Amino acid sequence: MEAVLSANNVSYSYVSRYQKVDALKNVTCSFEKGKFYAIMGRSGSGKSTFLSLLAGLDTPTSGEILFEGKSLAEIDRNKYRKYHASVICQSFNLFQLLTVLENVMYPMELQGAKRRDARIKAAELLAEVGLDESKHNKFPQMLSGGEQQRVAIARALAAGGKILLADEPTGNLDTANERIVVNLLKALAHEHGYTVVVVTHNHDVAAQADRIYYMKDGVLEYERP
Ligand SMILES: Nc1ncnc2c1ncn2[C@@H]1O[C@H](COP(=O)(O)OP(=O)(O)OP(=O)(O)O)[C@@H](O)[C@H]1O
Ligand SMILES: [Mg+2]
Repeated sequence: MEAVLSANNVSYSYVSRYQKVDALKNVTCSFEKGKFYAIMGRSGSGKSTFLSLLAGLDTPTSGEILFEGKSLAEIDRNKYRKYHASVICQSFNLFQLLTVLENVMYPMELQGAKRRDARIKAAELLAEVGLDESKHNKFPQMLSGGEQQRVAIARALAAGGKILLADEPTGNLDTANERIVVNLLKALAHEHGYTVVVVTHNHDVAAQADRIYYMKDGVLEYERP
């Protein structure tokens, strides 16, 4: 099957006046439609750096990231971020001054959707992630961590892209909520055709993945089929 997303000999260095950190070294791998991937590895090994390149938030120092076979260097990276790839992070990053519903409406409004349509679709997405309607008009801080992460997932889905990139999505959750969130991400991959990539330190989370990649000192060292 053709890869939706791939990295071709990707290296990345953080360069400052005083030092250069080679965070990624010749990373090559691919991600297919409908699959759930985990990336593991020690702190500082380069996982978040890799995820931000996959998300088009930054560009490789050398090598390329390909979306549906085309280099992100050739396609509009802003478009890619707006329409194709969404990022979910550990701290949820919801807009605290917007309600739950408004948070999920936001990506659609950014794409020019009518407020009314965005509201209807946002309510559908919140139902899909299992968030009760009574929570729609609350502010994020009034929700539990698990609920906030589900709102963040609904917001990621609202953009309509089929690539979900999550950095420690269960890092702030207890075991029960961790399970809910992982099962949700897994279902999005297996039942709805999303390509899901999760960075995690948690072996229980990684055990749910179709494939686990290990990052070691910037090298993608080992993959389990
Ligand atoms: N903005 C930055 N400037 C300079 N060096 C950085 C920067 N961000 C990360 N690094 C360095 O790049 C390397 C990879 O960092 P990265 O954040 O990708 O690791 P990680 O695997 O996500 O770690 P963690 O599990 O702690 O989140 C580390 O050596 C880190 O110190
Ligand atoms: Mg990280």
